Amino acid sequence: MYTQSFNVPDKADAPPGAALKAVPHDSALQAHFDAVIDADGKIEPRDWMPDAYRKTLVRQISQHAHSEIVGMLPEGNWISRAPSLKRKTILVAKVQDEGGHGLYLYSAAETLGTSRDQMFDALHSGKAKYSSIFNYPTLTWADVGVVGWLVDGAAIMNQIPLCRCSFGPYARAMIRVCKEESFHQRQGFEALLSMMQGTAEQKAMVQDAVNRWWWKCLAMFGPPDADSPNSVQGMRWGIKRISNDDLRQKFIDATVPQAEVLGVTLPDPDLKWNAERGHHDHGPIDWDEFWAVVNGDGPCNKERLATRVKAWNDGQWVRDAALAHARKQEERAMKEAA
Ligand SMILES: [Fe+2]
Ligand SMILES: [Fe+2]
Repeated sequence: MYTQSFNVPDKADAPPGAALKAVPHDSALQAHFDAVIDADGKIEPRDWMPDAYRKTLVRQISQHAHSEIVGMLPEGNWISRAPSLKRKTILVAKVQDEGGHGLYLYSAAETLGTSRDQMFDALHSGKAKYSSIFNYPTLTWADVGVVGWLVDGAAIMNQIPLCRCSFGPYARAMIRVCKEESFHQRQGFEALLSMMQGTAEQKAMVQDAVNRWWWKCLAMFGPPDADSPNSVQGMRWGIKRISNDDLRQKFIDATVPQAEVLGVTLPDPDLKWNAERGHHDHGPIDWDEFWAVVNGDGPCNKERLATRVKAWNDGQWVRDAALAHARKQEERAMKEAA
């Protein structure tokens, strides 16, 4: 699903800006890398790349992969409680897509020389970050619709520019991911639209869910540009194409008319069209809350991590069995070849 702006340092990382001081090992290789970036070309796994570029991508792609996998949890909670077979089928497909997104992204990160075990270890030990939006609970069925409409909607805004990312495997993975995200966003909107044509209780449930998720979705785009020191380097490297504030603005401008079609109110008294700017103005975002949740103090941080660790431990026998099967097949092939 889902990215917030993935320039949030993991716990063990150097302070922001430190990467900028990296000294190129070889000026000719660096010059070639710079020329490819300047020409808007692609860097592939076997190409030389600066250590800081590699490290930034590993962090961003693995945080993105973790977000997909943890993002399965809030909606997965509703699979057994979906209100109809149709909604259950759609939700199963969506949650399964998110698992697939995680797998493409772990594979993309592996091409940079980081093993999947290392990435899982960082997630399970609490060292790696994932999108803080998933540390909130999905309290009602309307939350499932709102997550699709707003959270996947915000994810699409963030991820479409990543299809043009300078690192080839990440860019290519994002093309399919974005197509699936589009289905996620539409199914959420459609589920809400049918609730908004229902009873007063259903309408109130949708409005309540919108009230709880709106501001958290705006925070998904990451801190304001002025407070995002890594963004400039990300832009220079062709990893990040559009700034946090510009993406947030695009999301707001696209979502306001959709809210009107739905008949819900976005919970911001300062939200209004600014004809001079040609965009909507909006009220202040609570960044203290955002950072508190990123740093582990959200309502579900502990629960999400514990669920992932349990799933990993419970799945050990499956991994053992798959490896044993692969070994047997290899031995058989060797015998036949002998
Ligand atoms: Fe996804
Ligand atoms: Fe999604």
